[in-house]
Amino acid sequence: MEKLSLLRDLDVGGRRVLLRLDLNVPVDDHHRITDDTRIRRALPTLRELCERGARTVILSHFGRPKGRRVEEMSLGFLSAPLSDALARDVAVASDCIGKGPEAVAAALEPGAVALFENLRFHAGEEANDRGFADALARSGDAYVNDAFSVCHRAHASVVGLPARLAHAAGQALEAELEALDAALGHPARPLLAIVGGAKVSTKIGVLANLIGKVDLLAIGGAMANTFLAAQGHGVGASLCEPELAEAARRIMADAQAAGCEIILPVDAVVADALRAGAEPAIVAVDAVPAGKMILDIGPASADAIGNRIPDCRTLLWNGPVGAFEVHPFDTSTVLLARTAATMTRAGALVSVAGGGDTVAALAHAGAEAGFTYVSAAGGAFLEWLEGKTLPGVDALMAD
Ligand code: 3PG
Ligand code: MG
Repeated sequence: MEKLSLLRDLDVGGRRVLLRLDLNVPVDDHHRITDDTRIRRALPTLRELCERGARTVILSHFGRPKGRRVEEMSLGFLSAPLSDALARDVAVASDCIGKGPEAVAAALEPGAVALFENLRFHAGEEANDRGFADALARSGDAYVNDAFSVCHRAHASVVGLPARLAHAAGQALEAELEALDAALGHPARPLLAIVGGAKVSTKIGVLANLIGKVDLLAIGGAMANTFLAAQGHGVGASLCEPELAEAARRIMADAQAAGCEIILPVDAVVADALRAGAEPAIVAVDAVPAGKMILDIGPASADAIGNRIPDCRTLLWNGPVGAFEVHPFDTSTVLLARTAATMTRAGALVSVAGGGDTVAALAHAGAEAGFTYVSAAGGAFLEWLEGKTLPGVDALMAD
């Protein structure tokens, strides 16, 4: 069987190591980092490389500059937080290919670190252009990828470099793949998945893959409205994709055939609009008033999911079950997140969550630290949930 090449088995002492990170961190208008998770998770690998005497060159993208230099997307602002976190200087190169960066890499002492400029300033990165990958590879003797969140991109720094250099997965990528495998590859059963979020259209592939793999699938969020409508319920003024009714019915039928139990909401929290102070009401799903919006699953629905968590040994969660950004429509998401965290802390549950909004929802519930693993990946987590092979992971398999 193919096995992932690991950093601990890679010869790095004295060598120039190109380390692909995802420093595409969220920032405010003043370029202040609003969530440093991606930096913190890269530190164990960075420290290991330093301790083992590697000459480390950090590669990353930031934003989507589309192949040209865009000053606001320069990685320069990251050198201070990186050197603070590592307690050592981080040399900065003003590009990622060419004589300048090559000289910066060549000048690194063992244990030293440099940061190259945004990979996506060159169109060759996203195109996985051969000449661009060759040029990048000239600054390294070995390659380490420590960013699951870019592994769905077949870009030069993700697949081109490991094709050219001795390669391995770093500690964070190894841990993330292990956590994901425990959630869906080789899970302890019963396995419950909670899938929420706004649109069925973005999650068809996820649902189709999950029904063949999980024992229980709870659907919440606005995407549940499409399922309710497909069953003939009126959903008032709620977000809904009626054109996907047939797809929703097919998912329900396929789930039944696969022995996967689908849990849909039985009640809902409705209001006139999604805004703080909107008057909420709890109604059964067959009694949603015209003109009202479903903004959270109701208490009976949250219980119907929450009461099953103690029977399960694994929970996989993607997408909030309500409009958690606005109180009180966060109630069910918070309740379920805290239930899962409590069960996990008690050692009774393996809980793995991921995907953009999910991390924010769990943090809002104060439940993030209680989960077994929370992925910081967005698109890559979804593609993994869809059962797709991620090119960046594939590229790190031992030959
Ligand atoms: C992310 O933030 O999800 C990753 O950095 C990938 O970014 P991308 O969607 O622009 O490729
Ligand atoms: Mg993305």
